[in-house]
Amino acid sequence: MDQIGVNTMQSVQNLIKSSIKTRVQIAFPNLPQNSFEIQLETISNKLNFEYKTPTAIRIYNQFKKQNVFGDLKSEVEVAQKLASTEVQDNIIQKVELIDKGFLTIQLNDQFIEDQLNVLLNNGLKFPLKKKQKVVVDFSSPNIAKEMHVGHLRSTILGESICRILEFQGQEVVRVNHIGDWGTQFGMLINHLLEEYPDYQTNKPALKELEDLYKAAKKKFDCNEEFKVKSQQYVVKLQALDPVCVDAWKMICELSRQEYNKIYQRLNVKITEFGESYYNSILPEIVKECEDKGIVELDQGAKIIRVKGEKVPLMIVKKDGGYNYDTTDMAAAKTRILDWKCDRLLYLTDVGQYNHFKLIFEGAKLMGWHNPLETQMEHMGFGLVLGPDSKRFRSRTGEAVKFIDLLDEAKERALRQIQQRFQQNQQGKEFTTGTALSPEEFDFTAERIGIAAIKYYELKQNRISDYIFDYDKMLDPKGNTAVYLMYSYVRIVSILRKSGIKDFELFKRNNKFKITHQHERHLAAQLLRFIDVIQSVTDQLAINWLCDYIVEYLNLLLEQFCSLLLMYKNC
Ligand code: ARG
Repeated sequence: MDQIGVNTMQSVQNLIKSSIKTRVQIAFPNLPQNSFEIQLETISNKLNFEYKTPTAIRIYNQFKKQNVFGDLKSEVEVAQKLASTEVQDNIIQKVELIDKGFLTIQLNDQFIEDQLNVLLNNGLKFPLKKKQKVVVDFSSPNIAKEMHVGHLRSTILGESICRILEFQGQEVVRVNHIGDWGTQFGMLINHLLEEYPDYQTNKPALKELEDLYKAAKKKFDCNEEFKVKSQQYVVKLQALDPVCVDAWKMICELSRQEYNKIYQRLNVKITEFGESYYNSILPEIVKECEDKGIVELDQGAKIIRVKGEKVPLMIVKKDGGYNYDTTDMAAAKTRILDWKCDRLLYLTDVGQYNHFKLIFEGAKLMGWHNPLETQMEHMGFGLVLGPDSKRFRSRTGEAVKFIDLLDEAKERALRQIQQRFQQNQQGKEFTTGTALSPEEFDFTAERIGIAAIKYYELKQNRISDYIFDYDKMLDPKGNTAVYLMYSYVRIVSILRKSGIKDFELFKRNNKFKITHQHERHLAAQLLRFIDVIQSVTDQLAINWLCDYIVEYLNLLLEQFCSLLLMYKNC
């Protein structure tokens, strides 16, 4: 094991918590040990104090009747006692009482220096208890339908949580659980063979495929003969009839090409393990559930009842077919037992909360999922709303297409940068910058447009709905991608102009030593990063990372730049 501060960076929060615990024990030896939690909050507005804790208030309220505080009569007095207790400690330098019994905490200078030197010498390594294998099931559109705004959140949040987990050092399996199997293929194949008998040489485009889906659905709903024939195609497909399999493959391939265009533009890496991947094991999964004795017959269907849930899992439909639930049970087993994943994340809108709750419980009943060893979590999210605060729809009343959103954001970004360049030429806003070529304009607009959409998504509290608002996304001021990129470029350019080389500037005799209040503050805030990433991955709240980044960038703009001036002058 590494010694603290020698080779590995540590969670500052955890170290502070145990230090405060020790302080409480020294101050109040009669307090039952391990009977209370230490809560910490970060503070940014009090110079040279980094954290605050309501510990005094909490323990006073929890134990005031137990005669452990001697003659201390209030939380403030308990806090005073804690602040003045002498502790041999290399983490905390000072504890001060602020109003109403809160204590503020100042980190030890030496500790900050040691941790920062670990970072400078060894790079960023996260203190992980155990490297986990995490499967992230995201994006997952349905074949023969274009990706729409509903898949936007899943794709962006999914890709980001994968990147963050990988950055933290976890092993990540990115899964696209596309809807590429099921009864809808009966009607699709039926309709395709009727309308495009020459489909092998004359492939329909995805737009036509979508029309094909709508037309097939219409026929299916009102033409009894078509319906019966479609059901026969389902059976044929399930029996792997070569003609059906061939048509099915073509339909999937066309959709896939469309998805890939979007994944490329968003730089999303994902591997397809669609519903069809589990097809061959569905019968044995059902049998396994039956052998376990948890399956009930319900009007011809096979169901699994889950305690406390009104709706059961249905693993075989009345007509003998399998469905979404069966596939997700098979997927759960595969991911836990075959792929040996420790953590399973599923990204869909909150509307599927109950479905996943049932799957998690079902996997528990089957003994595949033991919550002490595996984690199964639904990373649900709210809806994307239009300007009227209703479900975001296009003018024709359909769900807005994903690709159209990207194009529109790019278009607006282009107009914005062109305008700024014009202003620049008139000497209004910028002092530097030469004209860009049309390709450079196009490239920049694509990057800004996409970043604007992505960041606006990431900074939201994911459970809430949000209004899709281009103006807000592309606002150059405030908490937006445009502002972040602008600030970053500004900092880098100030650094470049100063002529000082990166980290070298902090090091004296090859070590970082605090010589200025700003250095201390910037370093202490930087050390928080480990805890920020930990809580983001624990709570699946990417917005906390966004908050941290804006805060830190602003701090850099304010303090780093004045430090640079100072270094230059000395
Ligand atoms: N295809 C589904 C949809 O568009 C999402 C699939 C999510 N993943 C899963 N394992 N069920 O709603």
